[in-house]
Amino acid sequence: MAIRRPVIAGNWKMFKTVSEAEDYAVKFLEEVKDVTDLDIILCAPFTALYPLKNELEESIVHLGAQNMAWADEGAYTGEISAQMLQDVACTYVILGHSERREMFGETDGEINKKVKKALTVGLTPILCVGENLNLREEGKAVERVQGQVSRALEGLSTEELSRIIVAYEPIWAIGTGKTASSKDAQQMCASIRATLTSLMGLDAEKIPILYGGSVKADNIAELMTEPDVDGALVGGASLDPLNFAKLIINANPLPARVEGI
Ligand code: PGA
Repeated sequence: MAIRRPVIAGNWKMFKTVSEAEDYAVKFLEEVKDVTDLDIILCAPFTALYPLKNELEESIVHLGAQNMAWADEGAYTGEISAQMLQDVACTYVILGHSERREMFGETDGEINKKVKKALTVGLTPILCVGENLNLREEGKAVERVQGQVSRALEGLSTEELSRIIVAYEPIWAIGTGKTASSKDAQQMCASIRATLTSLMGLDAEKIPILYGGSVKADNIAELMTEPDVDGALVGGASLDPLNFAKLIINANPLPARVEGI
């Protein structure tokens, strides 16, 4: 069933000042201006969002953040709300990235609250899930990832579920140069889709599921041939505008995947 439009999202993590972000946007837009068959998202640090709003306005590139608070407003020192993200033209937000889970102690319960808040205001959450190397070696990767998906999406209506993106990012493949094989990526993305199907029925076929972890210009095409891998969340290889544009062009989605959108 050809019903999912591919998505390639860049996750800049904690890189780029305002001037670097502006410079990137000019070069990147020039390279990707003719791309029509997939959605491109740049997930930038908070300080670069407002300048990027101006640079990306009326372009095909969407803007995303890398985290947000579950609360609307109030005494939450250091936090950024969903409304604040919308105010700077963000339409996507990465939630539950493994770096936030591991280094900042984010729990599935908090991620669930953030997912709900994002959906309430109309932001599209890019929910990140993934196992560490120990779990993979113990054969518990699927169990962990399916559990993360179920807990993060607990209590959502079918309509809300229909507005999410999931990114499978095995922790052992992030920033390490070790990509999961396209078969491993496919297997886990299919397990995630099975979990989504148990939550929302056949509408799960419409949810984009991305792979992330050392995706590069030279391995994206193979990943994209897998039926349940609908795109990528890209860290290191999104930092250079020409390199990221090349990755996007190499993603070369199969015509069948984008038909009818
Ligand atoms: P990487 O990061 O592409 O540098 O491995 C991916 C991510 O953490 O989203």
